[in-house]
Amino acid sequence: MKMTGNTILVTGGTSGIGRALAEAFHTRGNRVIITGRRQSLLDEITAGRPGLFGMSLDVTDQASLSRLTADIRAHFPDLNMLIANAGISRAEDMTADGWDASDAEAIIETNILGILRVTAALLPTLKGQTNTTIIATSSNLAFVPRADFPAYCASKAFLHSWLQSLRHQLRNVPVEVLELAPPYVQTQLTGVRQATDPRATPVDVYVSEVMHLLEQEEHPRGEVLVERDRARRWAERDGLYEATFAAMNPT
Ligand SMILES: NC(=O)c1ccc[n+]([C@@H]2O[C@H](COP(=O)([O-])OP(=O)(O)OC[C@H]3O[C@@H](n4cnc5c(N)ncnc54)[C@H](OP(=O)(O)O)[C@@H]3O)[C@@H](O)[C@H]2O)c1
Repeated sequence: MKMTGNTILVTGGTSGIGRALAEAFHTRGNRVIITGRRQSLLDEITAGRPGLFGMSLDVTDQASLSRLTADIRAHFPDLNMLIANAGISRAEDMTADGWDASDAEAIIETNILGILRVTAALLPTLKGQTNTTIIATSSNLAFVPRADFPAYCASKAFLHSWLQSLRHQLRNVPVEVLELAPPYVQTQLTGVRQATDPRATPVDVYVSEVMHLLEQEEHPRGEVLVERDRARRWAERDGLYEATFAAMNPT
């Protein structure tokens, strides 16, 4: 993929992995539009940085998505790259009295339908360009789940499958479709403790490895897998699925 001179929209660009990716692409000479619900962060991140723009977007709200799509067509008709990264994560205890599917519904709305809706809304603009790329963020929990995050892991497994079909269907358009499947990274995805958890990879370390892999075009099958992703990605192929699942889900 082209690493400079792109016009890129990043969902979930107000924090964590999305923000770091947006800043890394901006530094490399791309126009970058970050999106998210927190207007104060959009303003703070883009202040005094020409070429970095903020646009409000709630991926679960069709009216918000329609507004964004119209603004992109009007102001950024050369958009040629989408990083569909917005996501949420919640633990769920399905043994608890009163457990209901509300957390799962929120996860499906954001992590699955949010990505599908944003892709559908922006695809007509993206398809009109040359050098078009769609990157979506799944997780290495797509390959082996953590049982305390059931709907979250399943949402990422959905994306892993769906992206293969999208890649195949768009192969002759052409649109390159890449999947980021991050390991455990220091962001606030599950709360403030994750951002300093020493077991998690620092976000700048993760994103610099991703940028290196993109620059080298080291993404077989369209999967951008950092070193730490690979054991889980290949656990089943390597006959280590049950041992990996057991290590991640102690009884
Ligand atoms: N950190 C990890 O360990 C890890 C591992 C594997 C995969 N991932 C994936 O990486 C992606 C980014 O997560 P992160 O770790 O960087 O966490 P994060 O810092 O919490 O970022 C999540 C981003 O998603 C946005 N977002 C959430 N709900 C949204 C909605 N309804 N509409 C629009 N934007 C929304 C948030 O922006 P606003 O709040 O401003 O809307 C925020 O910018 C997620 O898809 C996550 O599942 C993370």
